[in-house]
Amino acid sequence: MERRILAANWKMNPQSAEEAVELARELDRLLAPLPLTKLLFPPFVFLPLLEVRNLTIGAQNVFWEEKGAYTGEVSPPMLKSVGAEWVLVGHSERRNILGERDEDLKRKAEAALKNGLKVVFCVGEKLKDREAGRHFEVIRKQLEYVPKREGVVIAYEPVWAIGTGKNATPEQIGEMHAFIKEIFNTKVLYGGSVKGHNAKELASTEGVDGFLVGGASLKPSEFYKIGEALAE
Ligand code: PGA
Repeated sequence: MERRILAANWKMNPQSAEEAVELARELDRLLAPLPLTKLLFPPFVFLPLLEVRNLTIGAQNVFWEEKGAYTGEVSPPMLKSVGAEWVLVGHSERRNILGERDEDLKRKAEAALKNGLKVVFCVGEKLKDREAGRHFEVIRKQLEYVPKREGVVIAYEPVWAIGTGKNATPEQIGEMHAFIKEIFNTKVLYGGSVKGHNAKELASTEGVDGFLVGGASLKPSEFYKIGEALAE
């Protein structure tokens, strides 16, 4: 694995298989020369369709059981069988919109690891927590449910910075990444409105081992710019 990680979280985009195949092909071609570990997290349905050689594929979610009566869920062995090597666990949209609880996330991460999938485990505080000065406490609590094992990478994504165009400052990121690494010494990615124009500054922040990128990962030239900043 390269030292730094560039991860694309497509969320519920793009809207068709045709567009997904095309976008993945374009990212695969553009990012090929960058000396980074490049991860792509598309929606489940696109996983078996994407033809990429330079990107490693992962899923945005996973269930904790391996098979059975769990309508609508997708198991770790299913993901492996279509070529996924990673999973995202605990994204704030799943915590806050789908109501996933810390205990659920722990089970998901453990099931993934047991089946040989690697995990990007997302943590992040809400604006009200930061304003109340509770951000370290919130992150410490979320980290209690993270399996502290090889194969797990943390993504620090302050909820107030996701999709809002607002970044955490380098100082806020630096101190939080250091705090996380004290609890669990692993790679820590930053996520939250990483764009072409701010990638350089964020990439040079102490303790940033990579990025988890949402919106900008749907725009090949901008995503490339972010990768370039990370690879410098
Ligand atoms: P964003 O999303 O880059 O669009 O802010 C990041 C994420 O949610 O992973």
